[in-house]
Amino acid sequence: MIRRYDFGIPFPTEAVVLDLTPNPEPLPHFTKKGTKLNFFLKLERDTVVYGLGESNRGLNKRGYLYESFCSDTSTHTPDIFSMYGAHNFLLISGKNTFGVFIDCPEKITFDIGYSDYDDLKISGESTDYTIYIIEEDNLRSIIRSFRTLIGESYIPPKWGFGYQQSRWGYSKESEFYDIADQYQNLDIPLESIYMDIDYMEAYKDFTVDPSRFPNFKTMVSDLRSRGIRLVPIIDAGVKIEEGYSVYEEGVEHGYFCEDETGKPFVAAVWPGRVHFPDFINPAARKWFGEKYKILTDCGIDGFWNDMNEPAIFYSEEGLEETFSYLDSIRDTNIGIKESFGMREAIENLSNNPKDYDRFYHNHNGERIVHRKLHNLYGYMMTRAASEGLHSIQEDKRFLLFSRASYIGMHRYGGIWTGDNSSWWEHLLLNIKMMPSLNMCGFLYSGADLGGFGCDTTYDLMIRWLQFGLFTPLMRNHSAISTREQELYQFSSTGYFSKLLKFRYRLLPYLYSEFIKAVKCHEMFFLPLSFEYEHDSLSRSVEDQLLIGESLMSAPVYTQNAAGRYVYLPESMLMVKFDSRLERTCEILEKGHHFIDLSLEEFVLFIKRNKFLMLAPEANNTDSLDCTSFEIIGYSDKTDVLSYDFYDDDGISSKVDLSSMLQVQISKKDSVWKLSNQIPQIKITKIDIMEASVY
Ligand code: GLC
Repeated sequence: MIRRYDFGIPFPTEAVVLDLTPNPEPLPHFTKKGTKLNFFLKLERDTVVYGLGESNRGLNKRGYLYESFCSDTSTHTPDIFSMYGAHNFLLISGKNTFGVFIDCPEKITFDIGYSDYDDLKISGESTDYTIYIIEEDNLRSIIRSFRTLIGESYIPPKWGFGYQQSRWGYSKESEFYDIADQYQNLDIPLESIYMDIDYMEAYKDFTVDPSRFPNFKTMVSDLRSRGIRLVPIIDAGVKIEEGYSVYEEGVEHGYFCEDETGKPFVAAVWPGRVHFPDFINPAARKWFGEKYKILTDCGIDGFWNDMNEPAIFYSEEGLEETFSYLDSIRDTNIGIKESFGMREAIENLSNNPKDYDRFYHNHNGERIVHRKLHNLYGYMMTRAASEGLHSIQEDKRFLLFSRASYIGMHRYGGIWTGDNSSWWEHLLLNIKMMPSLNMCGFLYSGADLGGFGCDTTYDLMIRWLQFGLFTPLMRNHSAISTREQELYQFSSTGYFSKLLKFRYRLLPYLYSEFIKAVKCHEMFFLPLSFEYEHDSLSRSVEDQLLIGESLMSAPVYTQNAAGRYVYLPESMLMVKFDSRLERTCEILEKGHHFIDLSLEEFVLFIKRNKFLMLAPEANNTDSLDCTSFEIIGYSDKTDVLSYDFYDDDGISSKVDLSSMLQVQISKKDSVWKLSNQIPQIKITKIDIMEASVY
């Protein structure tokens, strides 16, 4: 059951798709104080609080403070409160178990046992918002209801599940050819190469620098014929430059956010001074969205939207304040106060929340200060892109994901989790964040594998890829000036080749589970406690994840680990892969186990009475055969196992589960065989381990 409660005059964020009548009763569960958003709830000692999508720390959010305030956070240290996304959904699992979604685009603070371990406080400045309370029988049903409320998640093309290579700094045609050559010469799979800001002319959106990319269209099609796609970045800020058509059209039609005086607001990002398109204004959205055609006309069919919190390096006002402070102390004896003052003045120039009070949106003729709609900006940019891309080709799926987001955006694109670092801690953060993102509808997501900032290492890269094997977005991305981390940069590459080929073996299962999760409003990554709700130990496991209906992943995420402890809430089939990706299987009983896993070994688990369909190895989705499978599985006293397998052409917009195939295998005369006729697929081998034999 979902109930809606309105306060003040909520802004139509279009986060939800169900039109519910507001409930006149007081909001249940919480105590409200004052007129602003200010709610309290007493937590039992063992209450677990899930949710908040892209946010810091653990899967259980208890014990810390989080802010929903889309932020260009360059270092994800444990002490930060906000990240790029604002996902105001909590699932409280205790004596009273329910979900709560606060639909409010302003900053919100979630104090989840931080000020007082036993109190949950949700607060903000806003007086206008909607709260939804979702109550169902169990955690999974709450998520299903919530996801029904917010609508179906974005589905990328199948190639979006391939291995993708990115780095900030690729700046000329020869580099892209070189990356493709290196990967292909070493027989390492590669699906796409990302084009970061340096492909543009002076960081101008929808331009390609003709001096560095003289034959752009030819390059796109050459690489495409080798199975590789290019995915350019689009930034939110539009460079102010006479003669640049995007800038001139935006000014002419009033498509940019305005300052107090009604002039286009000036801020600075990569190109220096820019204007921000007013993505709240549908006409501006349409205009900006249609610009993607400039690149789709060159053969591009995937994009990543960035700096759309929006990130601000400085505003004119901020710059003025900083220079006047520096001038004021120039001739003084600069002591401790001034030294700190100088540092602060410079640091406060970028991403200063004060700037969000300095520009306005046009919402049907009404001027609304940005601060009040802040968390919608990246969402609406990605909506603009998605709608634009659909108007270009309605029946085709495009790859699209964003850095900033708000619930609602999950219908238009995926997200990547921004500028992490090459730290083991961020591998663990990645693991813990995935289910939280899924709860909030963001199924197509992933982190920068290997880490974005700082220098990566061979062992971190390996362990991160071993987890990345399962994330829908599997992209290796790094920052300019850090150690290069394309997989051919490492002295030994054989294992990477094997590992990525295995990604393609898994891909049909991942894709099938992904589409089923979207269509049935399920999660792709599930915490153990959501499936084994009555197993109390599962509630504290945050470093193992269920993936779809058959698998559990237990990645290694610490340096020099010789293996790891794994907790099994029931018996499972352990499938251990060695450095040649050859496997050994063993049934492990419910309980704790230590699994030895040297660096080039990883493990996955198959649940009781489930199986996994593995395709043949491939180097990209063009050459992936989704019709021929090997089956590995675990039977516990049953002679019949089945799996609902979904597949499609991977590109057309129409996706429906009616074409799903039920793959059923059964045991007769001690031999496992496919028991139903499925002309679409071929099963080459069946390897089922049986509990009774063990
Ligand atoms: C931002 C993005 C990062 C990108 C860089 C340059 O920091 O988060 O992924 O590489 O900008 O465009």
